[in-house]
Formats: sequence, structure tokens, C-alpha cells
Amino acid sequence: MRILSGIKPSGTIHIGNYLGMIRPMVESQSRGELFCFIANLHSLTTLFDGKKMAEYTREAILDLLALGIDPERSVFWVQSDVPEVAELTWYLNNVTAVGLLERCHAYKDAVARNIPATNGLFSYPVLMAADILLYQSHRVPVGRDQKQHVEVARDIAIRFNNTYGKVFTIPEPEITEELAVIPGIDGQKMSKSYGNTIEIFAPENVLKKKIMSIVTDPTPVEASKDPDKSVIYALYQLFASPARAKEMADRFRAGGYGYGDAKKELFAMLWEYFRPHRDKREALVKNPGIVDEIRKKGEAKARAIAMKTLERVRELVGVK
Ligand code: ADP
Ligand code: TRP
Repeated sequence: MRILSGIKPSGTIHIGNYLGMIRPMVESQSRGELFCFIANLHSLTTLFDGKKMAEYTREAILDLLALGIDPERSVFWVQSDVPEVAELTWYLNNVTAVGLLERCHAYKDAVARNIPATNGLFSYPVLMAADILLYQSHRVPVGRDQKQHVEVARDIAIRFNNTYGKVFTIPEPEITEELAVIPGIDGQKMSKSYGNTIEIFAPENVLKKKIMSIVTDPTPVEASKDPDKSVIYALYQLFASPARAKEMADRFRAGGYGYGDAKKELFAMLWEYFRPHRDKREALVKNPGIVDEIRKKGEAKARAIAMKTLERVRELVGVK
């Protein structure tokens, strides 16, 4: 089974990205063949600064390697290193109904947030379909917000196969329901656009400050509290063992346990949880040669597979 996932390089990654997509991706390396890439071409729809783009891409490579993507077991590459994906996008564009793209929430949401309504932004799902179909992916693990895009990829694959002959595997989205929406420090969905994120590789004092600023209600320390209404507990139980999570829940209910204490515990838990990843990242930063080599090897592996699909598609559409 081939599992594919892309992550946009958009600066600093946060716990929502980690739990919603990176951790499931890392874990999927033991149940299938993982194809994992940095979706820098997708970032071009919202980032118009070449220097930042290149910097974010480098950071994303480091982040993913540090968080457990294993380039020996998986195919790990940068999207633009295999430019054939842009060629496939063009073929797919011609079997994609405008109405299918007009229904996409992500586009409407982005325009509502004043992101320029370009053709790139509008046809974002077609490039995403090309990512998925070029590598003949069976499963695509995504957060709930990306599910519609995987459904668009399915529709495009079916339409292409019906028009030209069966070439594409029909992909399926994979959503882990309980992880689907990770709350941010203000209780809304954690997202860079809401400024409510907890960054994984933030320095200790920054991370602590972020966690101490999680919004809480004015329930006094002595009173019993409902853990299920607290963002602190919601985040804690995503990282803690079930036994430790239960301990915190019991303390919440018992009363005499303040939100400040719970925040300190959450901070300690996160700092420990990401310690091995921080160490790995620091080691990679000191060894840029290794990172470059991993990038080149990934490109070669990905391109070899991409070319097989693309040759067949060129033949079917009659440009070869
Ligand atoms: P942001 O909202 O911060 O801009 P992105 O849109 O770049 O994050 O999301 C990258 C990936 O991380 C997506 O697959 C998305 O589903 C996942 N993700 C982001 N925020 C969350 C969240 N709060 N809960 C679960 N998954 C998330
Ligand atoms: N659109 C995805 C996101 O916003 C990133 C992405 C690009 C992707 N291509 C993909 C995810 C292909 C899964 C499969 O996070």
C-alpha cells in the first residue's frame, strides 16, 4: 500500500501540523510505503517572497527529518525537484470541471481572508491531484480541512481514466477523527492564520510563554473543573500516556488544582516529548552536506516513479 502526504513549507510548524499530519505520517512508515514531500509549489499560492520560500523549504526538510521521516524507508523529496508534476497538472486541468473547483471551501476561505484570488490559488486542488496521482497513491492521510481536496483528486482520476483509459490509482483520504482539529491557545483551531499556535521547535522560554498564555475561564483554583472543557487538558492528553492523562483529569475534577499548575505540567510534557527531535534537528543543522545528499537521493527515487506514470499519460493524451 502506498501512502502519500505533502506538507507546505510555511515557516514554523506547530503542534496542530504535528498531530494532524506529521505524526500520523511518521507512524505510517511502519504500515506501508510512505511517499512524503515538501509542497513548495503549493506555497507559491500564498507566499510571494523567493528568499523566504527557499528558507522555509530548507527548514521544512530539517523539521520532517528531525520528527521521524526516514529517507531510507520512505521516498522523501521536495515537490519542485520533480517538475514533471507541473506537466501532469496541465493534463489534469483539461479534465477538471470549473464547478468542481468552485465548490472547494479552502479557496473560498482563502479569498475571504484576502489572499489574492489568482488562478494558482483556484487550481490548487489540481496540482494536489497531480501530486497524488503521479505517484499512484492508495491512501492520503490529511487533516479534515484537506479531505475535500483528496475527493477532488478522486474525481479527476476517475474522469481521466474514463476519458483516456485506466492509468491512475483511485486514492482514498485517511482522517484520524479524534485528532482532526487540534485547538490553539485561544481554543479555536490551531492555525498560523489565527496566531494561536504552539511551535514545536521554539526555544524553551518562548514555548513556556506560549503555554502560559493559553486562555482559561475564571473558575477559582479550589473549584472542581471539567477537563473536557479545557484546552490545556485537550492538548495534554494528546501527548500523555492514558494513565498520566487520567491523573490530570482527576486533579481537574477534584478541585484545588489551578490552571497555572496544569499549564506547567503541559509545558514539561511537551518539552520532554520533543527533546529527541530537537537533538536530531540540531545535529542536522550542523551537517548540511548530509541534508543535501538526502534531498538529491529523494529526488532521484521520486522522479523514477513519476516518469513511469507520466510516460503513460503522455501516450494516452497523444503528445508523444
Ligand atoms: P495552518 O492552518 O497553520 O496554516 P496548514 O494549513 O499549513 O496549517 O496545515 C498543514 C497540515 O497540518 C494540514 O494537513 C492540516 O490538515 C494540518 N493541520 C493544521 N492545523 C491543524 C489543526 N489545528 N488540527 C489538525 N490538523 C491541523
Ligand atoms: N494541500 C496540503 C496542505 O495544505 C498539502 C499538500 C499538497 C498535499 N499536495 C498534497 C497533501 C498531496 C496530501 C497530498 O497541507
